[in-house]
Amino acid sequence: MEISELDKYGICDGISEIILTSGMENPNAAPIGLIRKDNRVFIRLYKGSTTYENVKRDKIFAANVTYDPLLFIKSTFSNLGEENFKYHPLDSKSIPMLKNSASSVIFRCDEIKHTKQAMTAEIIPMDAVANDYRPKAINRGLTAVIEAAVHATRYELTGDNKFLDLIDQCLETTCKCGGQREKDAAEILLNEIDEIKKRVAGGKGTE
Ligand SMILES: Cc1cc2nc3c(=O)[nH]c(=O)nc-3n(C[C@H](O)[C@H](O)[C@H](O)COP(=O)(O)O)c2cc1C
Repeated sequence: MEISELDKYGICDGISEIILTSGMENPNAAPIGLIRKDNRVFIRLYKGSTTYENVKRDKIFAANVTYDPLLFIKSTFSNLGEENFKYHPLDSKSIPMLKNSASSVIFRCDEIKHTKQAMTAEIIPMDAVANDYRPKAINRGLTAVIEAAVHATRYELTGDNKFLDLIDQCLETTCKCGGQREKDAAEILLNEIDEIKKRVAGGKGTE
C-alpha cells in the first residue's frame, strides 16, 4: 500500500488522532497521534502503556479512524470491552480492529528507535478497510473533549495543576457545542480526573 493512499482512509498530512488497537491475545485500544510528514508516517509511544508493550513485541497494529468521543475517552482511561473489537487476518496473524470505526489501517513498524522515555517507529501501511464515508462537520465540543483528554494524561504524568485549568476551559466548550455523546464523554473524563487527583495527591505525599 502506498502512503498517498492513506488520504482515502482519513490519515492525512499532520498529526491524526486515531485509536490504536494492538495485542493479538488480549486486544487493547488507546488514542495515539500518527505523525504523517513528507510521505512518511511515525508513532511515538511513551513507556508505561499497554500499547507500548504490545507494539514493541508484535511490531504490528491497527490505526482506527473514529469521531466517537466515548470510544476516545473510555480507551484513554481504561480498555474497551471485547464487544468493540473485530479481527482482520494478515499473514496468518489476526489483527484486532475497532468494529465501529470509519476506517482502519494496519501498519507494521519499520525502523524503531528507543529513548529513555519512549520509542519512535517509522510505520508502513499494509492493508486498510473503509467502513463509513458519511460526512461529518467539525464539532468544537468533540475536539475540545479530545483536547481535555490529552491534558488529563499530561496531568497524570506531571501533577501540574495548570492542566486542570486547561481541562476546565475545554469542557466549557464541550458543554456549549457538544452533542449528547460529547457531554457523556466529558462526564466520564471528569470522574476520571477525580481519581487521578487522588493518585497525584498520594504520589506527592510519598516523594
Ligand atoms: C488524543 C490523544 C492522543 C494521544 N497520543 C499519544 C501518543 O502519540 N503517544 C503516547 O504514548 N500516548 C498518547 N496518548 C496517551 C495514551 O492514550 C494513554 O497513555 C493511554 O492511557 C494508554 O493506554 P494503554 O495503557 O491501554 O495503552 C494520547 C492520548 C490522547 C487522549
